[in-house]
Amino acid sequence: MRASMPEKISEEIRKEIDGLVKDLNYHSYRYYVLDSPVISDEEYDRLFRRLKELEERYRLVLPDSPTLRIGAPPLEKFEKVRHSEPMLSLDNAFSHDEVREFDARLRRLLGIDGEIEYTVEPKYDGLAMELTYRGGLLYKASTRGDGYEGEDVTLNVRTIKSVPIKIEGRRVPAEIDIRGEVYMDLEEFEKLNKQRAQRGESLFANPRNAAAGSVRQLDPSVTASRRLHLACYGVGAVRGVEFKGQNDLIGWLKEARFPTPAVINVVQGIDAVIGSIRQIEERRGSFPFESDGAVIKVNDFGLQQRLGVKTREPRWAIAYKYQAHQGTTRIREILGSVGRTGVITPFAVFEPVRIGGVTVSRSTLHNWDEIERKDIREGDTVVVERAGDVIPHVVMVIKEKRTGKEKRPPIPETCPACGSKVVREEGAVAVRCVSLHCPAQVREKIIHFASRGGMDIEGLGEKNVELLYSRGLIRHLEDIYKLKKDDLLGLPRFAERSAQNLIDAIERSKHATLAKFLFAIGIVHVGEYAAKLIAENFEKIEDLYKIGPDRIVEIRQMGEKIASSISAFFNDEKNIKTLEAMKALGLRMANPDSVLKKKRGGQPLDGLTFVITGTLPRSREEVEDLIEAHGGRPSSAISGSTDYLIVGEEPGSKLRKAKTLGVKTVSYEELLRMIEDKTKTPKLF
Ligand code: IVH
Repeated sequence: MRASMPEKISEEIRKEIDGLVKDLNYHSYRYYVLDSPVISDEEYDRLFRRLKELEERYRLVLPDSPTLRIGAPPLEKFEKVRHSEPMLSLDNAFSHDEVREFDARLRRLLGIDGEIEYTVEPKYDGLAMELTYRGGLLYKASTRGDGYEGEDVTLNVRTIKSVPIKIEGRRVPAEIDIRGEVYMDLEEFEKLNKQRAQRGESLFANPRNAAAGSVRQLDPSVTASRRLHLACYGVGAVRGVEFKGQNDLIGWLKEARFPTPAVINVVQGIDAVIGSIRQIEERRGSFPFESDGAVIKVNDFGLQQRLGVKTREPRWAIAYKYQAHQGTTRIREILGSVGRTGVITPFAVFEPVRIGGVTVSRSTLHNWDEIERKDIREGDTVVVERAGDVIPHVVMVIKEKRTGKEKRPPIPETCPACGSKVVREEGAVAVRCVSLHCPAQVREKIIHFASRGGMDIEGLGEKNVELLYSRGLIRHLEDIYKLKKDDLLGLPRFAERSAQNLIDAIERSKHATLAKFLFAIGIVHVGEYAAKLIAENFEKIEDLYKIGPDRIVEIRQMGEKIASSISAFFNDEKNIKTLEAMKALGLRMANPDSVLKKKRGGQPLDGLTFVITGTLPRSREEVEDLIEAHGGRPSSAISGSTDYLIVGEEPGSKLRKAKTLGVKTVSYEELLRMIEDKTKTPKLF
């Protein structure tokens, strides 16, 4: 189908189009450069739609029309662009002293005794860009490339709303190359990465990479979809206008509606420069963009000319770099380290990299699930971050650098500190060493063992444990019971009496109850209360050796987690050896006679295990208490060793299970009768 002929255009329409372009460009400037819009978004959209409609109907698109920002088709490749004047880079200073040296050098070169006037601006961490304007219109946008030749990214840069398509103001040069930085602000960066993570795409390491990735895009619609910004701070070739200095240039840029750096301080002399650097550094945290330093420039272009350039950098400017946050390095290997509670945490060993003045050669990887989630492998090149005093961490893997030789680290099966088999709880992220022998945990274990809730050994607190450990007197839990008074005498803080007191306290602890011992021994998830419940069900520690989780779950209130933890503990050969050694050293680890007697004392439900299903006339807790009070053992799981299933209203699947297992069933009333009649043989269904 042939396109329809454009309608004849009247002067009135021409004016309307012209007016709409001017208005829309002005409002875009208010919104994107000044951040102070004067019309609503809806009003802007309405004007934009009207312009688009007229442009289509009358086939008249002015060269600075905002409709030109969008709609360019993807490119095959970027064309090369030669810069009229090379785009230089900057020398760096990492200390205030180096900034002072810079000033001293310039004064020497210029033969100036007095103070030089400088400008100080934030250094934007983005992508350097050259914008060439001809006859006041944006003609070309190019990347820095190697400084001499860059890539033509005009179609992409035109989509950045703060880039003027036309130079406004009174002084419009015939030709000018404006230099600046395209950047992505922090909020947009985080939003973009979040979106990418949700879509399973690779993340950008920092806002600079995100900006570069968004501009160096063959499809301009992708660039248009990212909110990029521009800050202009320099000029290359220029014809038709003259600038006295940096500050004058910035003034002109503002008048011409270009976005300029958030701060430009004009100061006299180096002391004021340092003050300005400090001021910018203080404000840095509140900038919406990433700034990695401050740029110090000689203000006067005449002086700049006299100073000239070295090979790649001008002599008249320097970048003061703040302490860096990030660095890139390679992971040599991934190892595990055992914490004081037995959790084995993975960490990466790097090829050493300097970040923020510190050499970083390792960092924690938090847990093994995180390694899988971030897909971190040995041999990977990674971005490492170290902000302030925060411990370094891996931000991301640069997957483009993979060679195929990278290795996924296996989740350890044995403890790197003691070689014991590790335990990984279902659904939990932690990999743990539960060995009593593990040297990485032993001090912590001893402190806990001797604590008040545990064996209550007065005089064996943190300080003394550290002391005895460092002297090699206690290396394992059982060593406590090998201590002699003579070992203690002569140690700092120990005299005749205090040594005797500690030996006595240790001796007394040998008679601690099974409950106290089970808590003191430090089984994962077993607190004082759980220890008490377990102890009520066993006579002595040996009854727990090699125990299976099913038997523990039968105990009231014991869940799967505790059960598997207890079972893992008592199935560890080395742990059993330690317990045996303790027994040989005189520890009782049994229920005191009184408790046992109470348990054995011919009570009506003695030795019987009960499980409840359905709703009973009393709460489950009350019934369980009742069973316990009469010598029985309430349990939550039914098994072959269950004696009775108490069946309430609307019983659950336990009833079926009881039938298959041949477990006897009773009603609540029958239970009461069992207690009252003191008989163990209730009527059966
Ligand atoms: S002036 C002659 N001012 O930093 C060099 N550069 O590390 C002219 N940059 O290539 C650069 N913020 O891309 C200047 N306020 C600023 C800057 C700035 C960021 C970039 C620029 C330069 C790089 C050097």
